[in-house]
Amino acid sequence: MNKEFWKNLPKPIIGLAPMDGYSDSAFRRVCKHVNPAIITLTEFTSADGLHHNAQTLLKKLYFHPDEQPVIAQIFGKNVDTFITATKLCEDLGFSGIDLNMGCPSKKVVQSEHGVALRKNHDLAFQLIEAVASNTKLPVSVKTRLGWCDSSDLIPFAQGAQNAGANMICIHARTYQEPYNVPAQFEPVYDMKRHLAIPVLGNGGITSISDGLEKLGNLDGFLIGQATFGNPWIFSQDPAPKSFVEKLPLIQNHAQWLIEHKGLAVGTREIRKHLLAYIKHFQYAKHYRSQLSQVQSLEEIQNILAEIRNCTMIEPSANPEIFKK
Ligand SMILES: Cc1cc2nc3c(=O)[nH]c(=O)nc-3n(C[C@H](O)[C@H](O)[C@H](O)COP(=O)(O)O)c2cc1C
Repeated sequence: MNKEFWKNLPKPIIGLAPMDGYSDSAFRRVCKHVNPAIITLTEFTSADGLHHNAQTLLKKLYFHPDEQPVIAQIFGKNVDTFITATKLCEDLGFSGIDLNMGCPSKKVVQSEHGVALRKNHDLAFQLIEAVASNTKLPVSVKTRLGWCDSSDLIPFAQGAQNAGANMICIHARTYQEPYNVPAQFEPVYDMKRHLAIPVLGNGGITSISDGLEKLGNLDGFLIGQATFGNPWIFSQDPAPKSFVEKLPLIQNHAQWLIEHKGLAVGTREIRKHLLAYIKHFQYAKHYRSQLSQVQSLEEIQNILAEIRNCTMIEPSANPEIFKK
C-alpha cells in the first residue's frame, strides 16, 4: 500500500463507517460479501492500549484476508503511543491507518481524545504528522463538522493535509448534534474545494442512491447505522431480497462472529444483529425474545430455519405467528 491509496481508488469510494460494537471482522466480512468493492474500517481502538498492552486489544484488530483493503482506526492523544500503534497495525497487514478525531462519547472527550482534538489543532496535527512520517501506509482522519459549528473546518482540514493526511472523512454533524439531527453536507462540499486530498462524507445516508445524491463534489461516502440488519444496502442490485435469500449470509455472520470471538461473546454479540435482521418482518415479535437469548450456533440456525419456514407459508396458515 502507498500514500496514493485513497487517490487511486475508483470513485465514488463507498464504505462501511467504523462503529464500535458493530464494525468488527464478522460484520465487515458480511458487508464485503455483499459488495467486495467497499472499503471497511475497524472499530476505534485505543493507541494507549495498544502501546501498553497490545495483547488484550489484538482481538479487536483481527481481520480476515477477504476483508482487504481494511483500514485500522486508532484513537488517543499521545504521539508515542500513536507511533507504536501505527507500527503494530502496519505489521498486522492493514491497508491504512485512520485517526479518530470525531468520537463524542463522554469518556473519550474527557480524556481529550476523539472530537476533543478539534479543540487542540496543534496536537491533532502533531499526531497526524507523527503517524504519517512513521508509516508507509496511507493515513486518514475521520472527524466532524466541528465542535458547535463548522467555522474551523477548512483550517483544520488544511492543517491535517499539510501534516500528512492522505484522506479526510467528515461526519457531517457537529459534536453537539446527536445522531438523529439531519447531517449538513454543504460545509463539507465547501471544505473539499480547499483541499487536494480525497474527501469522504458521512452521516444519515440511508442507501447507495441517497449517498450518490449527497455526493456533490466529494470522493465518496460511508454508511453507518443504516447497515444494521441490512448489509444488502451495499448491493449493486437494488431489488429487495427475501428472507430465504438473506438467510445464508445471516448464518455466515453468526458463524464468523462465534468463530472469532468464541461461543460466550459471539452468541451475546450476534443477538443485536439477529434482532436487526428480523426487525421488519411482521412476525418478528414472536421470535424476538428467543433471539435475544441465543446460546449456540445450532440454536440460532434452528430459530432462523423456523423463521424461513414462516416466510414461505401463507399468513392465514399460522395466524398466531403473523400477529404484529
Ligand atoms: C454504535 C456506533 C459506534 C460508533 N463507533 C465509531 C467508531 O468506533 N469510530 C468512528 O470514527 N465513528 C464511530 N461512530 C460514528 C459512525 O462512524 C458514523 O460517523 C455515524 O454513525 C454517522 O453515520 P450514520 O448516520 O450513517 O450512522 C459510531 C456510531 C455508532 C452509531
